[in-house]
Amino acid sequence: MGDKVLYLGTSTGTTPSHVSDIVGPKGLLIGVEFAPRVGREFVENVARVRRNVVPYIADARETGKFASFGKVDVVYCDVAQPDQTEIAIANCRKNLKKGGRLLLIIKSRSIDVLREPREVFREEGERLSAAGFSVERIIELSPFDKDHALISAGFAG
Ligand SMILES: C[S@@+](CC[C@H](N)C(=O)[O-])C[C@H]1O[C@@H](n2cnc3c(N)ncnc32)[C@H](O)[C@@H]1O
Repeated sequence: MGDKVLYLGTSTGTTPSHVSDIVGPKGLLIGVEFAPRVGREFVENVARVRRNVVPYIADARETGKFASFGKVDVVYCDVAQPDQTEIAIANCRKNLKKGGRLLLIIKSRSIDVLREPREVFREEGERLSAAGFSVERIIELSPFDKDHALISAGFAG
């Protein structure tokens, strides 16, 4: 409750609406989506009706755009791109406070369709460790979300 979350890759806003409930009226969800059609749905159906949601129709790589609300407590990244881990790291360096947390959804097929998902998850975790994050957990989301994992990592700044 009360946390400020930078959410990258909102799509139409299904999961972001749950995060908005979790952080509550004293929290803030800054939601970023670059696809105009789903971005419009996110604005109409979620941001307009929730006072703790601020939408950006923008590329998550433009990290400086999301700095207006100060440093956030959590960066949640679900952009399903080959460079998803780099996008998450760049946003943490710019926008996450010291001692904050990264929640990174890894879609292994967006990185490499041919490799074992578990191998991809491990490597992306190592990439975060090499960038100075402390990887706490890698949670595989199958069978609910095939070939996906959530990596939770601490950020010392
Ligand atoms: C897997 S979907 C997100 C689903 C959403 N997080 C949920 O759980 O409801 C990935 C979204 O990230 C968006 N996306 C991909 N690359 C992006 C980028 N560079 N900047 C902003 N959004 C991006 C896509 O358009 C897509 O809507």
